[in-house]
Amino acid sequence: MTTAIIGVGNIGSTLARHLTSGNEAVVVAAQDESHAEALAQELGPLARAASVEKAIAVADAIVFAVWFDTIRELVAEYGRLLEDVVVVDPSNPLGFGADGQVFRTLPDDQSAGSVVASVLPAGAHYVKAFSTLAADALASGANREPRRAVLFYATDDDEAAATVERLIRAAGFDPLKAGGVAAAGRIEAPGGDLHQFGLNGALLDLDQARAAVASTEARA
Ligand SMILES: NC(=O)c1ccc[n+]([C@@H]2O[C@H](COP(=O)([O-])OP(=O)(O)OC[C@H]3O[C@@H](n4cnc5c(N)ncnc54)[C@H](OP(=O)(O)O)[C@@H]3O)[C@@H](O)[C@H]2O)c1
Repeated sequence: MTTAIIGVGNIGSTLARHLTSGNEAVVVAAQDESHAEALAQELGPLARAASVEKAIAVADAIVFAVWFDTIRELVAEYGRLLEDVVVVDPSNPLGFGADGQVFRTLPDDQSAGSVVASVLPAGAHYVKAFSTLAADALASGANREPRRAVLFYATDDDEAAATVERLIRAAGFDPLKAGGVAAAGRIEAPGGDLHQFGLNGALLDLDQARAAVASTEARA
C-alpha cells in the first residue's frame, strides 16, 4: 500500500515521519516540490517525493494535509483521480485573526468533514482523521507507554475505516471510530468535544476514549 501525503507542513511532515517509522510507504507532495523532496530525503527509502498530481495518481490512500480551502481546490482539480481511493481529511474549520485569535470558518452546525465529503466523487472512500491533536502532540504522542494514545476517526465507509485504522496503528496510536461523517464535527476544532482542545489538552487511552464517546453519546 502507498499513502500519498499532500502537504508537508506541521501535520504532513509529522505523519510522514510516523508512517515511515511504522513501515508504511509514503509519497509526499507540496506546493513547493523542494519541500517534499527534502522531507523524502530525510525519511529514507520508504519515502519519495512527487508532484501533487503524480502522488495522487499512484496512491491507495491520500492524506490531504493542507488547509481546508486548499483541500476544496485540490479536489476540484484532481477529483477525477479520487475514484476508488481512500481520502483522509485532517482539516479543521479554523482561521486566525490579525490578533492571533482562532475563529471558526464554517457555521457551527457544519463540519469541515461534511463539506469535504460532499465535494468528493461518489466512488471516493472518505474518512476524517488525524484532526484531533495539535501537531506537537501528534509528534510527541506516538507509541506512548504503557498505553497508546487514541486517534479518533469518523467515516461512513468500511474500506476507509479499515485503511485509516491501519495508518493510525502504524503511526503509533490506537484508532477509535467516533461515528459516521455526521460525527466529524466532534473530532474537529473549534468546538469538537472529542478534539484535544475539547478534552482540556488530554490524550486519551482506549478505555478513556471509549468512555468519552459513550458519555457524549448519552448526553446527545
Ligand atoms: N497544525 C496543527 O496543529 C493541526 C492539527 C490538526 C489538524 N490540522 C489540519 O491539518 C491541515 C494542515 O495543517 P498544517 O498546520 O500542517 O499546515 P501547514 O504547516 O501550513 O502546511 C501546509 C502544507 O500545505 C502545502 N500546500 C499548500 N497549498 C498547496 C497546494 N496547492 N498543493 C499542495 N500542497 C499545498 C504547503 O506546501 P509548501 O510546503 O510548499 O508551502 C505545506 O506543506 C489543516 O487542514 C489543519 O486544519 C492542523
